[in-house]
Amino acid sequence: NLNQMPREEGIDHSLSLLREGYLYILNRRKSFASNVFETRLLGQKAICMGGKEAAEIFYDDKKFLRNGVAPKRVQKTLFGVGGVQSLDNEAHTHRKKMFMSLMTSDKLDDLKSITKKQWENAVNKWESTEEVILYEESKEILCRIACEWAGAPLLEEEVKERTKQLSSLFESPIAIGPEHWKGRHSRKIVEVWVAEMIVQVREGKMKPRKGSALHTISLHQDLGGNLLDVELAAVEVVNILRPIVAIAIYINFAALAVHHYPKEKEKLTLGYEQYSQLFVQEVRRYYPFFPLVAAKVKNDFSWKGYNFEKGTLTLLDLYGTNHDTEIWDNPEIFRPERFADWKGSPFSFIPQGAGDYLLGHRCAGEFVTTEIMKVSLDYLVNQIKYNLPKQDLSYSMVSMPSIPHSKIILTNVQRI
Ligand code: HEM
Repeated sequence: NLNQMPREEGIDHSLSLLREGYLYILNRRKSFASNVFETRLLGQKAICMGGKEAAEIFYDDKKFLRNGVAPKRVQKTLFGVGGVQSLDNEAHTHRKKMFMSLMTSDKLDDLKSITKKQWENAVNKWESTEEVILYEESKEILCRIACEWAGAPLLEEEVKERTKQLSSLFESPIAIGPEHWKGRHSRKIVEVWVAEMIVQVREGKMKPRKGSALHTISLHQDLGGNLLDVELAAVEVVNILRPIVAIAIYINFAALAVHHYPKEKEKLTLGYEQYSQLFVQEVRRYYPFFPLVAAKVKNDFSWKGYNFEKGTLTLLDLYGTNHDTEIWDNPEIFRPERFADWKGSPFSFIPQGAGDYLLGHRCAGEFVTTEIMKVSLDYLVNQIKYNLPKQDLSYSMVSMPSIPHSKIILTNVQRI
């Protein structure tokens, strides 16, 4: 005997989603007093959910699937076509194992050394520069890190262009008009660049470090024992390069937090080793980045007395789950200490997706993200000092991705 889910009346609410952005689902969860509700988005019926229990359901691969869910405009910019994000079942687990094989502790150690080296180079340059725009500069640092770690050669004269192209992939998915088309164009260019490298690796003309992303993905075999199509392999290499550049967004929010919460900054200066992990987790919980993830109901099932009909588009609220009062004590307060005694459910702290890495779609790059953030934060707090001239440090809760409006201008950067 199933009930009608709380339902938002009307023909389509895509505009409300664009207007309310990160808060769209959370606002309605509050006003319906329900962690699940029905609405209409992109011309179809859609279910929106948030909270820990909803995340558990959403990441149950017997209940939801991903193939054919991402809208074209997202595939043509952010994700690429045919990559791990769109796979289900065995094919997904097999591909995901390949991604997770890149995330061993030795490889993360390499990543940390590369990150330090690139920050050193950048700081040397910044000391003799009048003004640094942190967002732009950190994207460039990250592009260098991404290529070096992935085993992809990057000429000095290419850096600016490649940085722009890779950034455009995550800056354009929701954009309308020229910005969006720039994203699609950049994806074509980046995929051709990477595909050429893959061909050379396969022909033995290019020898990236064994175990690097370029090496591993170029030679990866699918379940049938075949190499991936070159275009598809390129999509997967870009699935490593692009999101590393996107860590610039978190680096900027970390810098903002350091500025807004001087007491927290002090704790970072005193006990960096212990406190930076907590600080970085709180940055990922508190600030808006990836708003939600989407899936489709695999087979009819019921949950909490409501029917989930096969094929229904379902969105899980990542931002709202990280700001859920059932999970977090005063979620609107920035307080890294909350992570000191945090019990660590894989379904409650979900800035990069929930659940299990191999069985589900949880982000493959969470360790990469936190390690790069910790090294970067150390530079911002303990290695350099700088001034923040008057600027607009506010950030939008609507535009995606959200970045402090001024992109954080630093002047008078000096080593400590
Ligand atoms: C998937 C967020 C960085 C690689 C995801 C998902 C989210 C996410 C929300 C989707 C989860 C889902 O569909 O259930 C982020 C954020 C990052 C970040 C906010 C911060 C910059 C990275 C990095 C890498 C990476 C640095 C690689 C080095 C991936 C891959 C997937 C993924 C390969 C697809 C996983 C799958 O479908 O199984 N990420 N990510 N991400 N991310 Fe990240």
